[in-house]
Formats: sequence, C-alpha cells, structure tokens
Amino acid sequence: MDLIQQLFSLEGKTALVTGARTGIGQAIAVGLAEAGADVILLGHQDNMQETEELVSRAGRSYQTVLADLSDPDQVESVVAPLVERTQIDILVNNAGIIRREPAQQYSRENWDQVINTNLTSLFLLTQLVAGPMLARKEGKIIHIASLLSFQGGILVPAYTASKHAVAGLTKAFANEWAGQNVQVNAIAPGYISTNNTEALRQDPDRSTSILGRIPAGKWGESNDLVGSAIFLASRASDYVNGHILTVDGGWMSR
Ligand SMILES: NC(=O)c1ccc[n+]([C@@H]2O[C@H](COP(=O)([O-])OP(=O)(O)OC[C@H]3O[C@@H](n4cnc5c(N)ncnc54)[C@H](OP(=O)(O)O)[C@@H]3O)[C@@H](O)[C@H]2O)c1
Repeated sequence: MDLIQQLFSLEGKTALVTGARTGIGQAIAVGLAEAGADVILLGHQDNMQETEELVSRAGRSYQTVLADLSDPDQVESVVAPLVERTQIDILVNNAGIIRREPAQQYSRENWDQVINTNLTSLFLLTQLVAGPMLARKEGKIIHIASLLSFQGGILVPAYTASKHAVAGLTKAFANEWAGQNVQVNAIAPGYISTNNTEALRQDPDRSTSILGRIPAGKWGESNDLVGSAIFLASRASDYVNGHILTVDGGWMSR
C-alpha cells in the first residue's frame, strides 16, 4: 500500500453519518464510501434512497437506520442496539436544523427542536458510539459545527447556541479521549448551498451581503466538505485532536 493509501484509505472501516439524506451529510457519506468505508445512514424518514443508490455506485454497502433526533429518547432506543451489533469506526454528527425568528419572539418550541436535534442528540449519540471506540482504543468522531460556532448570526439564537456548544463539546470530548486514540474534531462549513441556507439565498439583501464577504467570491457546495471529512476520518489525522476546521472560502479571515 502506498503512503497516500495508508494515510487516507478508509477500506475496512464503517462510518455512521447522521442526516445523510441531503446536502453536506449526503456528500460526506458518499465521499467516505468513495474512500472505501461502508456506511450507516441515519435519517428520520423513509427517504434515504438517493444516498443509498450513490453509496452502492461507489461499490460500498450501506445500512439505513431511522431515528428522530429531535427526540433525544430515540437515540438510546435506536443507537444502543446498533452499537451492539455493528462496529462503528467513524461517526459523523451532521444532522442539524435551523429555525429563524427574532430573538425577542423566539418560541420555546423552536428552541427545544433546535437544541434537541443539534446538541442533545449529538451528545447522547457520541457517548453511545464512543463507548466501544474507547474500549478498542481506536475511533474517529467528526462534528459538523458552523461559522455560528464563532459568531452570533442573525435571527437564529438557538442555532448559534447549539453550534457554539458543539464546538465546546468537540474540545471537551477530545481532551478526555485523545489519550485513548479516539480523535474528536469538527468541521465548520461556511455558507454552503443546501436546504439549510435556502431562505438566505432567496433573500436578495442577505445573499448579496454574504457573498460580498466571502473572499473566494462564491458560495460553497456540499462536495467542498468531503476532503476535510476524509482527512478527519482517516489515519492522516491521528495526531489532530479538538480542532475545528473551517471550510468557508475565507470568511473567518475577513
Ligand atoms: N449549509 C450550510 O451553509 C451550513 C453551514 C454550517 C453548518 N451547516 C450544518 O451542516 C449540517 C447539514 O446541514 P445541510 O446544510 O446539509 O442541510 P440539510 O440539507 O437540511 O441537511 C440536514 C440533514 O439533517 C436531517 N435531519 C433534520 N432533522 C432531523 C431529525 N430530527 N432527525 C434526523 N435527521 C434529521 C435532514 O433529514 P431530512 O431532509 O429528511 O429532514 C437532512 O438530511 C447541519 O448540522 C448544519 O447545521 C450547514
């Protein structure tokens, strides 16, 4: 095996990717499969067919599991049995939602939905999947953070709170688990064309002002995240711990 293969190949590995139906999660699931991993696709509705097809075309196998991550109780009931029967080498905590409303009127319902999905379920799922990784002394955990892990955003207080917390948890987990050869890191995507940012792209003022601040001069695509995900899932990142890798066309440098 040549050096590049040794560093980056995911052959023989199994990756669990949450929110793998669309956008960034789909691109990462398919990218990990292209790099050699079998994948477990976690969604909350019976709608994973497109991702399943793309993984098959990459020549890898998949399992699809359903859990509604807005209900943290489902994490235990769905993921605990999964972890018992399947070795998971790579966990990508990608599923996430955004709800826009002014802070003053921000509803408790939106707050709970966002915090449960983006943060509480991520915490519980990571605990469950990390158990066997820590016992084996090998594992890779990747959280999908955000530029709103560093900045306040506009009209999205719950999302900002959840993503700041995801950045904090990345470091907290990494500090405890780096010594057991489980690497925990995050990717903070910039402005990427997905369902999550549809409302921004439809708003001419917001979309112009966002684009004007991106040094690369364009929105990102989901595939722009794949290389970073393969790096953080592979042996190439064995000495990288608690890092939050921005993939943002230069936004944070401005
Ligand atoms: N797009 C960006 O610019 C951007 C920037 C920074 C961070 N992010 C983060 O990237 C991640 C992926 O977002 P995306 O942009 O790719 O948007 P997306 O296309 O809306 O993807 C979100 C995924 O999460 C799944 N999901 C939503 N609610 C769920 C639930 N209750 N249980 C299980 N799965 C659920 C969705 O499934 P369904 O489609 O079936 O609902 C979908 O597959 C999120 O964490 C987001 O915060 C995105």
